[in-house]
Amino acid sequence: MTIIDGKKISSDIKNELKTSVAAYRQKVNTVPGLTVIIVGEDPASQVYVRNKAKSCKEIGMNSEVIELPKEISQEQLLSRIEALNKDPEVHGILVQQPLPPHIDEYAITMAISPSKDVDGFHPENVGQMVLGNLDKCFLSCTPYGILELLSRYNIETKGKHCVVVGRSNIVGKPMANLMLQKLEATNSTVTICHSATKNMSELTRQADILIVAIGRGNFITKDMVKPGAVVIDVGMNRIEDASRKSGYRLVGDVDYEPVSRNASAITPVPGGVGPMTIAMLLKNTLQSFMRANSIEAL
Ligand code: GUN
Repeated sequence: MTIIDGKKISSDIKNELKTSVAAYRQKVNTVPGLTVIIVGEDPASQVYVRNKAKSCKEIGMNSEVIELPKEISQEQLLSRIEALNKDPEVHGILVQQPLPPHIDEYAITMAISPSKDVDGFHPENVGQMVLGNLDKCFLSCTPYGILELLSRYNIETKGKHCVVVGRSNIVGKPMANLMLQKLEATNSTVTICHSATKNMSELTRQADILIVAIGRGNFITKDMVKPGAVVIDVGMNRIEDASRKSGYRLVGDVDYEPVSRNASAITPVPGGVGPMTIAMLLKNTLQSFMRANSIEAL
């Protein structure tokens, strides 16, 4: 059984990006820049945003974090985005979600220029992905990271049955769409399960590759997994744990211990899919920079 080490792969990718950023800096005398906007003081979001900024700096990219009060109006937020759209030093714009309830997330997604939408949330990027024009879009970072894991662990995907559990716009839908594209690390037969799926375990048990992003701790149990399956766990659920100083611990959507005994390969939580998301955000930002400067890949 292989434990898929997302921490190591993300670190490898960050090292590769660092080398590229240094090389491109020589070539065009400028570096990619990512701006992250955070509205309000949600502690989990603050940690994510801090990590994004730290990772940018580590690989030599510019990063700016704009912290805005939770009372900011939608119009004010839109005008900040408009200014960033026009700023040639900014190649990636990310507005951390969730946003306060008085702000319409869809309006914010639509306001970010598709050419700087390194989250890959804008309908133009989603549409190009669905059409298979992957050179014309940004891929949503978590599914993109999962493709990298499958590819770097040489997991055979062609013609395999991939079951995606979850249908969110950020993970489930793009993931399922990518797995059915005719690419090296995809080209699978795809089934999507969600909260209204009947007899879910009958379907998950057919999976050669099971990708779970349903947001429910330990949801996938051993009996739902075919022996030898590859299991990718996107879940990040806090459960109470009095033995920890923080009072909680993180568990995935997959009941790790028993399922790992059935799987041929599995991602742990933490240290699996999670670290890949930031690495792919940085990769998208570099991609945006290269497009803006008409740079071919080295
Ligand atoms: N909140 C949690 N994950 C993400 C993400 O990948 N992008 C944005 N914009 N917000 C998030």
